[in-house]
Amino acid sequence: MSEVKKSVFIKTYGCQMNVYDSDRMADILVDHGYLRTDNAEGADLVLLNTCHIREKAAEKVYSEVGRLRAIKDRAANRGRSVKIAVAGCVAQAEGEEIISRAPAVDAVIGPQSYHRLPQILDRVSRDGHAVETEFPSEDKFDYMPAPGRAMPGLQPSAFLTVQEGCDKFCTFCVVPYTRGAEVSRPVEQILAEARTLVARGTREIMLLGQNVNAFHGVGPDGKDWSLARLLCALAELDGLERLRYTTSHPRDMRDDLISAHKDLPQLMPYLHLPVQSGSDAVLKAMNRRHSRDDYLRLIDRLRAARPDLALSGDFIVGFPGETDEHFDDTMALVNTVGYAQAYSFKYSARPGTPAADATDQVDDAVKSQRLARLQALLSKQQADFNGQMMGRTMDVLLEKPGRRPGQLTGRSPWLQAVQVNAPRTAIGEIVPVTIKKIGRNSLFGETALPDAIREESGAAA
Ligand code: SAH
Ligand code: SF4
Ligand code: F3S
Repeated sequence: MSEVKKSVFIKTYGCQMNVYDSDRMADILVDHGYLRTDNAEGADLVLLNTCHIREKAAEKVYSEVGRLRAIKDRAANRGRSVKIAVAGCVAQAEGEEIISRAPAVDAVIGPQSYHRLPQILDRVSRDGHAVETEFPSEDKFDYMPAPGRAMPGLQPSAFLTVQEGCDKFCTFCVVPYTRGAEVSRPVEQILAEARTLVARGTREIMLLGQNVNAFHGVGPDGKDWSLARLLCALAELDGLERLRYTTSHPRDMRDDLISAHKDLPQLMPYLHLPVQSGSDAVLKAMNRRHSRDDYLRLIDRLRAARPDLALSGDFIVGFPGETDEHFDDTMALVNTVGYAQAYSFKYSARPGTPAADATDQVDDAVKSQRLARLQALLSKQQADFNGQMMGRTMDVLLEKPGRRPGQLTGRSPWLQAVQVNAPRTAIGEIVPVTIKKIGRNSLFGETALPDAIREESGAAA
């Protein structure tokens, strides 16, 4: 029986977990006759995997739906039906509202219902639309196919979600509401997925979770395993050379995880450990439940365990009640820590979160000014960090074709993008690279491999 293939275009917003989820939704849809396409115009199904973390992120979704409506209408005029589905955190937060506000949307699917995607699409065909934002009792991961069906190519570095949801309830954040309570996947399920990835050529796995270091999945021995224990088990998989994890909360950085940074050579020397603010008063109002000093002491312990550890963080400026002095405390903390990389945002009031109701909101002009100062400092630190790499030789995992012909892009142990002249057959290899030039977003290097293509004169410069 020949089945008519349909195509799905998936647009992903937000964090790495959404990237992972989009790939898994594509995997599920393969069995239901959908091929993934990177062209919205010809697709039968357009799936927006959305983010609700800041106001702008959510607004982008509605403007995208507006553009898609035009595509949908043009197709309808030619007798072809195009469906629009909204998944992700906006779907979870707004549910039915989305269809009222944007009637061109056919389906709304919350993050815990992705395994039901085929049935949801059937309901759309039958009833015209479908909304699924309940938190189902079954575990979606029990119903997801093995990764990679929709992506046959080599994936040298892959994401793997091990933990989802959050019980921390920082007063600014929507994640506990959009992703639900914290849930860890069972260890065996994670190891099986990791083995599948490694068998397909993956050399590096980035473990994902909204609060990944709170991981406590049930192990094969029936006991709860910590993230450190999971990392040790993964480190034993033949062919898996590199491990990373993100995002961590300072409160969940336990002793065994700190030790793992010393003991596991596969664990890369880079850690994203958001602090949000350097002021104790703001940290308290944010419900982060640790002090500035707790964070600094934690960084000291991590650096003692792994002296070359590079740190990354997230910062929010203009949280309600943040004064100039509080903000100066953040600047001082950044100066003390020294970040290799960081994200910083203006506080965005999110409906339903406690901080949104605070009466002492900070003026937008003040937020912009603080953000500019903070970002200037963080950019300088990043440039300094990258500058230290000049002339050094480091292992680089070659991941994909680079910007120019003959070039590949890879990642250093510290997650820097590295451009190197090498043949495509070297994708998936970890090679020693000597850094010859420092760019704004990339390092440029030469691989010392004898069989690699030598740098053409000036090409890497
Ligand atoms: N679980 C992670 C962060 C998840 S959200 C943690 O606890 O650190 C990613 C980042 O978005 C946060 O670290 C925070 O810096 C930022 N963020 C979250 N809510 C925000 C809001 N309402 N306004 C501005 N930035 C926000
Ligand atoms: Fe949001 Fe805080 Fe949970 Fe991170 S720890 S996801 S910032 S509530
Ligand atoms: Fe955004 Fe949801 Fe991730 S709100 S940051 S997509 S968990």
